[in-house]
Parts: sequence; structure tokens; C-alpha cells
Amino acid sequence: MEKEHSGLFFETIRALSLMMDLDENEKLYHSWRVGIMSAKIADIIAPDEKREIFYAGLLHDIGGIALPDHIIHYHKIEEHFKNPIIFNHPEKGSSIVEQIPGLVKSAAMIKQHHEMWNGEGYPNRIKGSEISTGAQILRISDTFDLVNRSLKNQILKEVSLRLKKKAGKEYSHEMFEAWRKAVSEEGFYELIKDNDNLTQLMDYVIKTLPEMGMKMGLDAFDTIINVFAEVIDAKHTYTAGHSKRVADYSIIIAEAMGLNKKQVQKIKYAGYVHDAGKVAIPSYILDKKAKLTEEEFDLIKKHPIYTMEILSTISHLSDIIPIAGYHHERYDGLGYPNGYFGKRTPLGARIMAVADSLDAMTSPRPYQGIKTGDDAKKELKKYAGTQFDPIVSEAACDVLNCSLLAKK
Ligand SMILES: [Fe+2]
Ligand SMILES: [Fe+2]
Ligand SMILES: [Fe+2]
Ligand SMILES: [Fe+2]
Repeated sequence: MEKEHSGLFFETIRALSLMMDLDENEKLYHSWRVGIMSAKIADIIAPDEKREIFYAGLLHDIGGIALPDHIIHYHKIEEHFKNPIIFNHPEKGSSIVEQIPGLVKSAAMIKQHHEMWNGEGYPNRIKGSEISTGAQILRISDTFDLVNRSLKNQILKEVSLRLKKKAGKEYSHEMFEAWRKAVSEEGFYELIKDNDNLTQLMDYVIKTLPEMGMKMGLDAFDTIINVFAEVIDAKHTYTAGHSKRVADYSIIIAEAMGLNKKQVQKIKYAGYVHDAGKVAIPSYILDKKAKLTEEEFDLIKKHPIYTMEILSTISHLSDIIPIAGYHHERYDGLGYPNGYFGKRTPLGARIMAVADSLDAMTSPRPYQGIKTGDDAKKELKKYAGTQFDPIVSEAACDVLNCSLLAKK
């Protein structure tokens, strides 16, 4: 991870975008498809901005993370105007993406991706050439995916007819022609409409991008992983700051237990992303006050599996997969997803289990009241040897003072 690596940048953004598109048991691939389509159109009308346009496509709907369902399920434009999360998602997404080194231009495009050629879009109702070319490319690529997935018979002629009807309203006629040219290249439509081809298409796009103006060092990676945590925690109001706090507590415990710098760093990254898979769990389950049904709990239990799936797409983070993925294992073997017993669960994950529970106990959750730091520590002691590794639990009680655990 020390090496500067633009492949790492791509893989991390790709994972972030994949996480956004997890919808219960299904991967929607909306963002990947919009990214790929946008890059293809950029080849024709904005080759100099292809890189920024591609990344804007991958992240364009990131500001909609707090919606109970994936944004593609909100079909009507009137709904977009009425629902504050949707109405604000271009601005919110832009302010998130702005933080990522090298993506300031992409952020500006995202801000305008729902503006329409005729001035009837949102949030600022700008029109025509006031909308940047990148944003217009996002607009038509977004509409392409939405229209295409709404069709039973996915034939290019039909998609093209539907998109043509929107030319002059949502986007310019010129933009429609650029899209038509891009999508008509031999075999491209057949490739992009099939989910199975998207990984390959993404790899192809990345090879054709102009070099990044910067190299990604550890600082830049730190920023992106922070953004990752921010997006995960934005899914639910009550999880605000959770991932970062779990990382902070884990670092303190790991250092107190004498782990070396490299191990501590891995634990930190794992803390940031341990709940990435939660994005796929429907809000009504996570927000439920009453006892969960068996099916609902089965779904919750899948979130570490999804986390591991997302992380497995970042080759440089393979070491942190077992730390992040096993944070719900228990010392007595009654946890999930694998029911690992005792030290079969890696130490990093046993530390994370304690940090995660500590933060859950001391934060407001729909199903429980907040515990004080003292009470949370009592629970740690009570469940040492059953839920928690007793050594980790003891270390945590020693080093985490109650004012740190008190909420903020
Ligand atoms: Fe959008
Ligand atoms: Fe979209
Ligand atoms: Fe979790
Ligand atoms: Fe968690």
C-alpha cells in the first residue's frame, strides 16, 4: 500500500461505486454502466475530460445513499422535486466527491447531472450550454440505463427511439447523436446491457484513460477510505460517525495490545469499511424497533459477507478482508457469518468486535437506549469469554476512558 499506484485509485473508486449499487440480493450496476457509457461518449465529444467524466459516472448518485431504496427505484421526476434527499443528491454527491484528490472536476459535473437542456432539471434549473458537457454526458448515460432497464425487450432500436424523444428536453440533439454514435459501435450495446460483461468493460475503460495528473500516495488513499466511511455511515442517521469511531477505538486497543504499526494500519482501514455491506440491507430492517423476524435477521447477517465481497475487488486490501469481514464472530463460536470459535477469528477482527459493540452500546440505536461508558464496559466484562475475547475486552476496559466513549 506504500507504493504510489493509480490502479489502487481506480479499484477503490470502483468498489465505492459497487457498494452504492448493492440492493439486497442483487447488484444493480447502475453506476458502472453510467460510467462506462459516459466514457464511451467522452471519446467522441470530450476526449480530454474522459477520465473525470468516467469517475463522475461511477460516483454520480453517491449523494443519494441515505434513501431507503436505491435511487433508480424513484421513477417520477415529480418525486425528485418533492423528496429532499433526491433533490439534494447532486449537491451532496458533489461535496463528497470534491474531497477525493484528483476529482474536483468530476464533482462539478455531478452537481449538474440532473440539470436539463430545457431548464426544467434540478437543483439550479440552469439550461443549454450553462450545463457542462460532462454533466450532459452523465444525464444521457443515466437516462440510457434507466430506460434500458425498464424495457422488457432490450433492443437498441427501442432504446434509441425512447432516448430520441427526450432530445431537446433533457439533453441536446447533438448529445443524443453522440450517444447514438457511441452505442452503435459494433457489439457495444450487447456488451453493456449484460451485467456479466461489465467488469471486462470497466477494465477496458481504465486502460484507455489519460494518465492521472497525480500519483496516489498513502495520504490520498487515506482520504478516499475516509470518504468510504462517510458514505457508509450516511446510509442511516443513527450510524453517523460509527465507522470512524470503530476505527479509532480499534487503533487504541491494538496499540495497547502491542501490535505493530503495519497491523494497526490494517485495523484502521478495516474499521473504516467494516460495515460497507450494510448499504445493501434495506433501511426498514436496520431502523426496526421491534424484534427482527428470522428472515430479517438472516439478511442482516449477510452484511459482513457483502463487505468482504466489496473489499475483494481492491487487490491492495486483501489483508484487511478477514479483519473487516469477521467483526460479528463471537469468541464462543456463536457469531456470524462463519461461527468461528476463539482464536480462529483473526485478532484484528476480535478487536473490531469489541470496538464495534462498544460504539453500538454507547450510540442511540432504534432497538436500544444509550449506555454510559461505564455501563458499556460492564457489558464487555460480563461477556468476556463468551461474546468477546477476554484479553481484548480487558485491554479495551483499561485503555478506553469513559469520556472518549461518551457521545458527542
Ligand atoms: Fe442522480
Ligand atoms: Fe443515476
Ligand atoms: Fe456490522
Ligand atoms: Fe459496525
